[in-house]
Amino acid sequence: MGKKEKILEFLYDKAFHTPAEIAKKTGIPEIEVKNDISELQESGYKIEVTGNGVKLHENEDLILPSSLQKGLKTDIFGKREIHYFPETDSTNTRGEELAAAGSPEGTLIIAEKQTAGRGRSGRSWYSGSRGGLYFSLILRPELTPSQVQGITLMAAVAAFEALISIYHNLPILIKWPNDILINGKKTAGILTTMESRESEVSHIVVGLGINVNTDTGSLPGEIRDIATSLSHESEKKHSRVEVLRAFLESFEKKYRLFREGRFSVILDEWIKYSGLSGKRVEMIIKGKKIKGTVTGIDKNGYLQVRSSNGIQYDVISGEIIKIK
Ligand code: BTN
Repeated sequence: MGKKEKILEFLYDKAFHTPAEIAKKTGIPEIEVKNDISELQESGYKIEVTGNGVKLHENEDLILPSSLQKGLKTDIFGKREIHYFPETDSTNTRGEELAAAGSPEGTLIIAEKQTAGRGRSGRSWYSGSRGGLYFSLILRPELTPSQVQGITLMAAVAAFEALISIYHNLPILIKWPNDILINGKKTAGILTTMESRESEVSHIVVGLGINVNTDTGSLPGEIRDIATSLSHESEKKHSRVEVLRAFLESFEKKYRLFREGRFSVILDEWIKYSGLSGKRVEMIIKGKKIKGTVTGIDKNGYLQVRSSNGIQYDVISGEIIKIK
């Protein structure tokens, strides 16, 4: 556990503690406790420092591993290694390093904030607000690289089910391949990266960014019209720990199905939650605009589209720009 995590964990009772007491209980030298507290304050943590001691603000909702693990009904995800960062560049980057160094399947990397959150196609992912949930998981399934898209679809299905179980009445939808939308605006995204050797996948890192309690006014101007948050749409705040726990439980159930060779169940759910089956769409595939009808999704996660002039496309990457 990192020093700052230890301090936050200790302060999470939201009572006053003197730096000397924190130092004694955490084993961190008092001078470092004071420095770390100043740095935490600088990166936005609401920590009061008064004559009575140091105290974390009542409203601080943190994703501390100890809170997450309370009542978490999984065996793999979130039950092995958890790496918690008050701030890091990207949990996927941390995950790739940890996986390369041998961290086991199920390892969870969480950040309260990211300074260089990564999105798909080299884009960035806004991660400046501590209202969002930013995390990655390490997987080590026996797969060939072409089957990895299936893991992304599985994560989208798990995210959909986790979110709908908490935000029952929201019009949540999966947008192919891996976005979660509410009222047409993006609320969550998934970035999957992998390392392979001789056509065998050695590990996969699945990263999710979910705008849980993100203040939409704080989103960068260029995405403000196309992105939203769960708190904005539902007018309610839920703890990010609750959302993450629901996701991990749902993801583990899907992963078990996947490993039992029952991926078709997940594909059926994906099609249902995307509302895409039989819909007329306009897509950009390899820079070309295609109009057609979605006929399904295959076992590798390729979207099957029949164009207006009868050509069948199996699409691994592209953008849907219109759905009718
Ligand atoms: C997308 O472009 O839709 C994918 C966004 C994925 C963002 C998440 S946030 C946690 C994890 N770490 C990253 O750097 N990216 C993913």
